Amino acid sequence: MKKKRKIHIFDTTLRDGEQSPGASLTPAEKLKVALQLERLNVDVIEAGFPAASPGEVEAIQKISKQVKKPVICGLARMVKKDVEAVKKALKFAQNKRIHVFLATSQIHREHKLHKTKQELFDLTTKYIKDCRKDFDQIEFSPEDACRTERKFLSDMVKAAIKAGATSINIPDTVGYTVPQEFKDLIKYLIKNNPQLGKKVVLSVHCHNDLGLAVANSLAAVSAGANQVECTVNGIGERAGNASLEELVMAIDTRKDIMDCYTDIKLDEIIKSSKMVSHLTGMIVQPNKAIVGRNAFSHESGIHQDGVLKMRQTYEIIDPQTVGLKGSELVLGKHSGRHAFRDRLTTLGFELTDVELDGVFEKFKILADKKKYVFDEDVERLVEDVVSDIPTVWELVHMETRIATDETPKAKIKLRVHGKLKSGSSKGDGPVDACYRALEKITGIKVKLTDYSINSVTSGKDALGEVRVKMKVQGKEVIGRGSSTDVIEASVQAYLRALNKIAAHIAKKPAKSSLI
Ligand code: KIV
Ligand code: ZN
Repeated sequence: MKKKRKIHIFDTTLRDGEQSPGASLTPAEKLKVALQLERLNVDVIEAGFPAASPGEVEAIQKISKQVKKPVICGLARMVKKDVEAVKKALKFAQNKRIHVFLATSQIHREHKLHKTKQELFDLTTKYIKDCRKDFDQIEFSPEDACRTERKFLSDMVKAAIKAGATSINIPDTVGYTVPQEFKDLIKYLIKNNPQLGKKVVLSVHCHNDLGLAVANSLAAVSAGANQVECTVNGIGERAGNASLEELVMAIDTRKDIMDCYTDIKLDEIIKSSKMVSHLTGMIVQPNKAIVGRNAFSHESGIHQDGVLKMRQTYEIIDPQTVGLKGSELVLGKHSGRHAFRDRLTTLGFELTDVELDGVFEKFKILADKKKYVFDEDVERLVEDVVSDIPTVWELVHMETRIATDETPKAKIKLRVHGKLKSGSSKGDGPVDACYRALEKITGIKVKLTDYSINSVTSGKDALGEVRVKMKVQGKEVIGRGSSTDVIEASVQAYLRALNKIAAHIAKKPAKSSLI
């Protein structure tokens, strides 16, 4: 079997990634990210663009002193002050690389640089030769390579290698290419410069303007590139760079068809993603591959059932591989009985089929009102349904009317021993109106001695739990009710207390007690 090729991971989160609008980091934050990138085991850290500011030089120096394993790289235009800044920034680095770039496409030559092709050859040769005095590793990028005339691009690459470049990086600066075209370009460059991918590292650097950065990078790898430039969470200029986690996980997950591997420590991926998101303030979209909040969550009943039977039915990556605890079955309106029963078991409830039917029915009603049903919600549902208190008074329907200039009104319909009974009332507030209506319907005089509301779960659609203490026929009784609607929870708590009383009377208890 042919030996697999190593793909070098060149991380540019701290350079191209930090160029994302609003993502700039302090030197201390850059150091934190660099230390995490070292744990992630990237091969090269492009730590910044030293000519940008003295703070950038300071940050790269800090990184160079503490981060020892990966190569530390600094970016420079082909101007003296940039190269000097990189030298200063990297003076403490054990393994260092200078990355010089010069735009080669016609549009950049004519409108940005105002230079001829010959001038570009001369500049490239001169700067790379000069860099050789101070650096063993020199990377050259012909900026906007994908929009450069092929023959000229290949000649520039040849000139850079001849001058002493040890890595050639082909950037798709504006995210313009597509996989077939990029693969073809890489093959063409290798054919005309056979050292590429062998003695000279052949790197690619893809931007995501068409959402193709990862696909283009993988196409280049399949054509012979042996370094990919990428960022954690795919942050970077405009639509960003190729995302490190997507590239690495594609190579690992499809090792059955790939002739290559990376040395990335996969279980550091989530931690790296969280740190970069937290420090840059760039939120990861929930459906982002590998690191998005939903990447390993399942809500549909069919998917949850499948995952519970055999995880691989709907998951191509074991979440633990990237550093997560496991996949998540989100309870919501699409969830089925299988996932619901599984969650009950995890929470320690063993219900009979009949009990499960009752709780599941309530769960579906709640899930229609709430986006997510949390474990606390499930516990409340079980407590509400599974008890030995028979339901004498059951809420069928309730309506309240509250307006700033009107007295609150409530209309309630109950089922009592199979018969429907309705009543309505006004009150000082909606809860008072409901309680007066309930008194009318039940004909039972109640003295409310305590009333409290707590939110059981979090979020705007949290479950509210109401606890009432009331005196009925000389007995004190407590009732609890929970719902996303606190008025409904108040009615449920009241009825629960009445049902307890009914059960108590049926058992003919001692004279006075708190039930
Ligand atoms: O996108 C680009 O062309 C770059 C170069 C500096 C490599 O970031
Ligand atoms: Zn870039």
